[in-house]
Amino acid sequence: MKITVVGTGYVGLVTGACFSKLGYDIVCVDKDTAKIDDLKKGIVSIYEPGLEDLVQKNIKSGNLKFTTNLKEALEKTEAVFIAVGTPSRRGDGHADLAYVFGVVDELAENLSSEVVIVTKSTVPVGTGREIYKQLKKKRPDLVFHVASNPEFLREWAAIEDFMHPNRVMIGVDSVKAKNLMARVYNPLCINKTPIIYTSIEAAELTKYASNGFLAMKISFINEIADLCEKCGADVKEVARGIGFDDRIGDKFLHVSPGYGGSCFPKDTKALSYTAQQYDAPLTLIDAVIAFNEARKKSMGLRIESILGSLKEKKLAILGLTFKPNTDDMRDSASLDILPYLIEKGSKLNVFDPKGMKEAKKLLGHLPLKWKKNSYETLEGVDAVVILTEWDEFRFLDLNHVKKILKSPVIIDLRNMYDLEEMHKAGFEYHSLGRKIIKPMD
Ligand code: UGA
Repeated sequence: MKITVVGTGYVGLVTGACFSKLGYDIVCVDKDTAKIDDLKKGIVSIYEPGLEDLVQKNIKSGNLKFTTNLKEALEKTEAVFIAVGTPSRRGDGHADLAYVFGVVDELAENLSSEVVIVTKSTVPVGTGREIYKQLKKKRPDLVFHVASNPEFLREWAAIEDFMHPNRVMIGVDSVKAKNLMARVYNPLCINKTPIIYTSIEAAELTKYASNGFLAMKISFINEIADLCEKCGADVKEVARGIGFDDRIGDKFLHVSPGYGGSCFPKDTKALSYTAQQYDAPLTLIDAVIAFNEARKKSMGLRIESILGSLKEKKLAILGLTFKPNTDDMRDSASLDILPYLIEKGSKLNVFDPKGMKEAKKLLGHLPLKWKKNSYETLEGVDAVVILTEWDEFRFLDLNHVKKILKSPVIIDLRNMYDLEEMHKAGFEYHSLGRKIIKPMD
């Protein structure tokens, strides 16, 4: 089966590479000539474990091709997956569908045989119907079907999530589209992956509702952490306690300085915006958005209140990305915290294992000292602030750390360390939703 994937960003590239591994004849299309030239040579600019290898192997096997020529890519294709960006440019949650409908216009010009058009991009409910309407208007002669097949890929685990998903959502309204999508996903049925067929609207909304729920779960435990600090409970114990209830589940209950990344902040806002358009406001989601934004902003103040005045304080910042194992800085808490610390007069050594290049693009205007590794960052500082839970911070040599710090103070916004361990190692240790450890306790 030949499948065309339009857009070679994160979602498009993972989709194309994984489908080619399943044995389909895949052509990935993008307007960006330089990117396509690189991809043809097997060069992947996105940091995603296993992706470059998968791309290279499937180029070699002949299953995966790249082109800028959509017309050529559409020849004899049975399905077109649209995987272009839907950025939120106005700040009010409105998802900009210009790229999606730009692709639809080009399909109108270039399609010549029956095809199923599938949205992989995260699009507001109603987009599938609108695609059908617009294309039908432009090409009344063309036989085509639309389907919604949202992605549920986590950065850093995208290939695993694609090949072993906990479910595949397929929104269709024709037998032809349903049969084609059933054939496409048939190889995953061997792993007993649940394939859920719904209306196009339900599939589109499921994507936003999933991310909205996960964002709400994170915000819930973050707010419980604040209460824990006041009442003397340990949030890790509470999270473990509630997580054993199957109806709640133990995942996504890690306390943090607020969720970030390219998905949760954008998708919660888009969900709220859509709900307002339909005159059915989602007050819970609105509260989550407000809580998370306030939380990220409050973290600078928290550090200040722990350390007293920040003026001339030398701090080591460990971790800049929105989560570990990625170089992605989008909506990372560091973007709120670092400007505050600088404004208050502190001097910052910063380090992130993979995110330095991306971080420099967004934080390069601040007077930061960009360090080469964790230990160099810690040398002679008044306190350490952990912003992202990279494994290498978990395995620091604490005796050595204590020796090279000016004062043994750690502010851990990811609860990476065990309280007992910190106590034994003689640190003053501040985490979230847990008691403060003082060296003399
Ligand atoms: C998220 C979802 O997990 C995917 O299922 C979804 O497909 C994807 O968005 C998307 O819409 O494309 P991702 O943004 O890669 O994936 O990252 P997550 O691992 O979900 O983390 C998001 C944020 O939540 C991070 O800032 C992370 O630190 C934070 N988080 C996560 C917490 O604060 N606590 C947790 O318990 C879990």
